[in-house]
Amino acid sequence: MPEQMAEILFTEAQIRSRVADLARQISEEYKDRTLVLVSILRGAVFFATDLARLIEIPLSMDFLSISSYGEGSEGVVRITKDLEENIAGKDVLLIEDIIDTGFTLKYLLRTLAGRNPKSLEVCTLLDRRARRIIEMDLKYVGFEIPDKFVVGYGLDYRQRYRNLPYIGVLKP
Ligand code: PRP
Repeated sequence: MPEQMAEILFTEAQIRSRVADLARQISEEYKDRTLVLVSILRGAVFFATDLARLIEIPLSMDFLSISSYGEGSEGVVRITKDLEENIAGKDVLLIEDIIDTGFTLKYLLRTLAGRNPKSLEVCTLLDRRARRIIEMDLKYVGFEIPDKFVVGYGLDYRQRYRNLPYIGVLKP
């Protein structure tokens, strides 16, 4: 473990096992539907591709890039790279790596809902509930985590650590 890391929250094996649980649940609940996994660049990509590999029903994948401006959580969110696919009439599952305040998610859900998907649900690997400002309905949650700064498995600190196979807490 790199010396900047204070502790490991979830090992590679724990993540793999939890992702497999979620994939099993999604495979069951979305069978006979038109599943589109929409993930948000960049952090969620690691989770989304691992999850997709373990889902046993047909699906398509698409990606959105956003940027947030302004102070803290109330910053304005804007799409910098839009979806390629038309999601109208599809069963969209929004894949996130982490939900904090809920502001990003609120914006994304409102934007995607405006495109008339058949259904729209959320699957997040991590839920840092302690930071929530806007209550959101999260259908699938990998792990709830304490209010600590986490990196790895897609999560970064200044663009570093995304490639760690585990999720850890950085030293302050
Ligand atoms: C993270 C995460 C969500 C957002 C959640 O992205 O992927 O999009 O923050 O925060 P909120 O609930 O307070 O709105 P981040 O800005 O770290 O970008 P990244 O995925 O490129 O690392």
